[in-house]
Amino acid sequence: MRVIVEQDQSGVSRMGAAFVGALVRRKPTCVLGLATGGTPLGMYADLIRMHREEGLDFSRVVTFNLDEYVGLGPTHPQSYRYFMQHNLFDHVNIDPRNTHVPDGRALDFEAYCEQYEKMIRDEGGIDLQVLGVGSDGHIAFNEPGSSLGSRTRLKTLTEETVRDNARFFGSEDAVPRLAITMGVGTILESRQCLLLACGSTKARAIRDTIEGPVTAQVTASALQLHRDVIAVLDQEAARLLERRDYYRQMEEAQERLQTGHGGVVR
Ligand code: F6R
Repeated sequence: MRVIVEQDQSGVSRMGAAFVGALVRRKPTCVLGLATGGTPLGMYADLIRMHREEGLDFSRVVTFNLDEYVGLGPTHPQSYRYFMQHNLFDHVNIDPRNTHVPDGRALDFEAYCEQYEKMIRDEGGIDLQVLGVGSDGHIAFNEPGSSLGSRTRLKTLTEETVRDNARFFGSEDAVPRLAITMGVGTILESRQCLLLACGSTKARAIRDTIEGPVTAQVTASALQLHRDVIAVLDQEAARLLERRDYYRQMEEAQERLQTGHGGVVR
């Protein structure tokens, strides 16, 4: 796993947007996997700026979101469809038909989840999956104990996640208890993963994700099994990592290689 530690949240947002923007330029028909929540907000703002100021073209980009609350329709202000419209899709030139967020009001969830997986396959799979991490170590809504081979399905949120997300709903009681979510297995099939994390509340989950054992108790730790993961963290989220110096040395070596001074890498 490549680990990049930025000074603060705005550094994480900038770096995240730089990776996504570079892919969109390199492959204008790319398939992006997207996350919601507080973490990627700044990155989406940066992508909007890149679209407006630098002409970053989303017209042929296809997106699949990780998850959605069960019971919330697209106009509910806390639905993830609403979040994506307001924080990204409405501000760039993406074709609405190319944006996919799981339907929290599907009539037959089992059939719908299978269909979501098929839609991803039919688009050729996800090129880059953006991920945040929950304070309990979840990716998407794969709560502790989720199978590391899981596919898109319904999942019950843990008390910790309900508590964390109550800030968006005003109270814990208002937070839906069920979500439709891509599985860990679905996420691991993406060609590249971009994991973003900010703030001290994520420090333990990030340590467990990057340096702990691979375990279904911390579903983000399954990313250790993926061949191409970039973790972009702020100082606070990286605080408990033991090998921070080594990650920095790796980045410095990488930079020397890119600037043509590879010979000095030891
Ligand atoms: C959201 C998602 C979740 C969040 C995680 C962190 O689509 O899949 O796994 O990434 O709960 O949320 P924030 O960024 O709000 O701390």
